Amino acid sequence: MTSKSRNETFEEVLARRLARRSFLKSSLVAVPAIVLTSSLLNSQAQAAAPDKLTFTPVPLGNQDAIRVPDGYTSQVLLRWGDPLFPDSPAFDPNNLTADAQRRQFGYNNDFLSFFSLPLGKRKNSRRGLLAVNHEYTNPELMFANYSAARTTKEIVDIELAAHGVTIVEIAFNGESWEYTRRSRFNRRITAETRMELTGVAAGHPLLQTSYDPSGSFVFGTLNNCGGGQTPWGTLLTAEENFNQYFANNNLLATSDPRRTIHSRYGVTSGASERRWENFYSRFDVAKEPNEPFRFGWVVEIDPYNPSFIPQKRTALGRMKHEAATSVISTNGKAVVYTGDDERFDYMYKFVSRGFVANDREANLRLLDDGTLYVARFNDDGTGVWIPLIGGQGALASFSQEEVLINTRGAGDAVGATKMDRPEDIETSPVTKKVYAAFTNNTQRGTAGRPGTDKANPRATNRHGHVIEITEDRNDNAAESFTWNMLMLCGDPANAADGTFFAGFDKTKVSPISVPDNLTFDKQGNLWIATDGMPGTLQKNDGIYAMPVEGEERGFVRLFLSSVVGCETASLEFTPNSENLFVSIQHPGEGGTFENPAGLFPDGTKPPRPSVIVAKRSNLSASGSGAIGS
Ligand code: FEO
Ligand code: CA
Ligand code: CA
Repeated sequence: MTSKSRNETFEEVLARRLARRSFLKSSLVAVPAIVLTSSLLNSQAQAAAPDKLTFTPVPLGNQDAIRVPDGYTSQVLLRWGDPLFPDSPAFDPNNLTADAQRRQFGYNNDFLSFFSLPLGKRKNSRRGLLAVNHEYTNPELMFANYSAARTTKEIVDIELAAHGVTIVEIAFNGESWEYTRRSRFNRRITAETRMELTGVAAGHPLLQTSYDPSGSFVFGTLNNCGGGQTPWGTLLTAEENFNQYFANNNLLATSDPRRTIHSRYGVTSGASERRWENFYSRFDVAKEPNEPFRFGWVVEIDPYNPSFIPQKRTALGRMKHEAATSVISTNGKAVVYTGDDERFDYMYKFVSRGFVANDREANLRLLDDGTLYVARFNDDGTGVWIPLIGGQGALASFSQEEVLINTRGAGDAVGATKMDRPEDIETSPVTKKVYAAFTNNTQRGTAGRPGTDKANPRATNRHGHVIEITEDRNDNAAESFTWNMLMLCGDPANAADGTFFAGFDKTKVSPISVPDNLTFDKQGNLWIATDGMPGTLQKNDGIYAMPVEGEERGFVRLFLSSVVGCETASLEFTPNSENLFVSIQHPGEGGTFENPAGLFPDGTKPPRPSVIVAKRSNLSASGSGAIGS
């Protein structure tokens, strides 16, 4: 059946929200009247019952080609080095230059977000902007005879230019997807692009450097891993393992409190992995001790405005951010879920002080002011969001600026639950429930490390798990929640793995390990990308689908098996769920430029990180073009 009838119409949602708003207005402070547009509510008001998934799962494999079920096809859309502008040089792996890389698609594409064109037409699934993170570089696969000890300024400049974000216009031409080289929206943002620090912590002495005594602007964004799309149509790109780019924390005085904080965030003691500090003093903590504090943020970018200055939103806290998933709360506030991807680190959410308005400019200030919470999961299946407010209780010794700059320290102080690597977090567009992936934690329960708890129930957790959270009153701004274990990953045929698939028959599911990134199709099925199955199941990473409602809840099946050496780093549907974009990150990893472990996508050296698109082979024959159902 079609499900629209089972859900509120947009008008009903709007009426309910405005009724609540007028109650708030009369009982509390004056709240600006707003009209929520249907596009604004799109993500929450779209209504669909979970249709059964119908595809025949593909087997897990070790092949060096993308494999999708019968009736589906995939194509390569973008490769590392593809020219993005009319004047961009063609990719030449034997003659890389920083100038060329600044005008080409970057390395190690990760998070993907599809923004329909034109702005305001949020259901257009045939033309849009694809925002792509470029998380990091694999110099051993990029450069002949690479050695960190012998790296050069030329190599480092190419690496700086290969990091960051790409925004590129793409369109479906009736047969395949293409990117548009002449689009006025195309943009490269790199590790050198000027951006601003905004919100409470901006300007704080810890954010000041010799070249920026104001503590208000930064050059570049680093290790952009996950992210999200706001209800007002901007990109949130999340800085994750920024610590690895900074060197020589051990040269700060042991009495310097900055050394302690850098150490909590894993800033390198001696030389950094890529030795950027040899050429740029800002990456040397001994010379520029505050520069690492200017990374580890969520960055907001308006993809529809190519001259927009990226904004590092300090109110969302500083950590190794993975997700930055936004939803609108029951009374119209912006809520952003985010996780700190480290063993024994925390899950967070931000709730804005202001309300989402039908005013894009006003919404661009929403993420500068609000409350940051950290999660505590109780063993009885309840949980609380602990507000991180400096000067109070366990945070009496923190200023609010210090809470935001040393968010890990604040989470430690309030007793948040130490999780098994919080990765992606998504909310169901149908039920508003929250799903969080915890990739793995092989140190859980080992000597000197925290033991198991109900939310992290397996010692030496190799395979990871997924938790389902229901916010109280089903309001994403609530300060408490209930939770349950949705899935304990592993090989269901291996009893020692202790797998659990929401109670579903284990003999029918696909083996799955290291869940990393998540998304929902419009029917409310959960889709999961993995990162690290070659190390756990000795199979390539892939994309899985799983209903979370109805009789097939927990029936997880492999939809796409990826290629040698790669991680399936991100997955994103078009609004009609007919096209699935997938990030194929670091194909061929495990080898070198001369001898890569794989040759994706073209069967030639070097392998190239790529964005692919999967869809039905013949949309017209299928009735419904939505992938999977
Ligand atoms: Fe870059 Fe947490 O994965
Ligand atoms: Ca990831
Ligand atoms: Ca996601």
